[in-house]
Amino acid sequence: AAAEKGGYPSFMEKEINDQPDAVAQTLLGRSDADGNLTLDEIRVDPSVLKNIDRIIVLACGTSAYAGQVARYAIEHWCRIPTEVELSHEFRYRDPIVDENTLIVSISQSGETMDTLMAVRYAREQGAKTVAICNTNGSTIPRESDAVLYTHAGPEIAVASTKAFLAQITAAYLLGLYLAQLRGNLFQGQIKDILAELAKTPAKIATVLENADQIKELARSMADTRSVLFLGRHVGYPVAMEGALKLKELAYIHAEGFAAGELKHGPIALIEEGQPVIVVVPSPRGRDSLHSKVVSNIQEVRARGAKTIVIAEEGDESVKAYAEHVFYVPETSTLLAPLLTTVPLQIFALELASAKGFDVDQPRNLAKSVTVE
Ligand code: G6P
Repeated sequence: AAAEKGGYPSFMEKEINDQPDAVAQTLLGRSDADGNLTLDEIRVDPSVLKNIDRIIVLACGTSAYAGQVARYAIEHWCRIPTEVELSHEFRYRDPIVDENTLIVSISQSGETMDTLMAVRYAREQGAKTVAICNTNGSTIPRESDAVLYTHAGPEIAVASTKAFLAQITAAYLLGLYLAQLRGNLFQGQIKDILAELAKTPAKIATVLENADQIKELARSMADTRSVLFLGRHVGYPVAMEGALKLKELAYIHAEGFAAGELKHGPIALIEEGQPVIVVVPSPRGRDSLHSKVVSNIQEVRARGAKTIVIAEEGDESVKAYAEHVFYVPETSTLLAPLLTTVPLQIFALELASAKGFDVDQPRNLAKSVTVE
């Protein structure tokens, strides 16, 4: 078993460290020598895909957060209205689905019963279905019109890590493919995004190499009772995923909030010493997202929060309000989740390990939930 863990104490730690590879493998073979996107595996008639007027992403757990991240990119690049729904909620609300709806399921195992049932239901209504999946030949891809495999390699730890980054990568490739097919982006733009994606494995490796500081912080927080996570735009699902990891592994009450929602409720939770982890968007990004999130840090700090900030390398503006800052390398706004998620995974892993919990087999959870 030690060999299977690649010398790491747990599968989860190994899988976190596998992430540069998981993303690289998922990109491999999906562009030609000139850097153009080639996605032959999407075996849905291009004329059908050109007529899609709606995308619904169906998934559960961490895979649903990957879908939420992907939604920002897909809508931005393809201009197709995209919603993300938990598979188990989808079927029971009499959803509007027809032959112009594209269903994108996301599942690491390909066996999650709730997602399988949702896909079956959508197919019966005439929708086209594409599966993003990490397990070759599993049930969901077999029952879908097309499959885009994530090549993260087998994921053993119950809490998903490398599959998450690979899912985001694959969903982005699908978004670029649709944008290419429908002419929403120029060829050059697609090449630029692919080139930026190709740089992320090395950047993830940098985050992993610089993880000592966050590990130390996590260990020092082993007695924490509650942690809040804030993010905005793509940082919002990242915040929710960070909170989920902490619940799953360390059994700590944790919530991820949209930073803009703070003033509408969650700020009431802030009292002296409350840890708040904030995922800060790039200061080079669009709009004034960055400055808005920085003022959220100030607001919680002023009320006594212990502020822990994940920010882009070189962003000095957060330092004044942060008790701890962890930097990730520069990338575009949409690709940032591939980097900002990693310190949150490490934080949960270290904190849970410090409490002496089994990080590979958290209590009450299963790797693959094959019952409804
Ligand atoms: C279970 C696992 C999670 C996973 C979810 C969805 O709850 O514990 O880690 O995110 O199922 O699984 P899937 O295989 O469909 O991605």
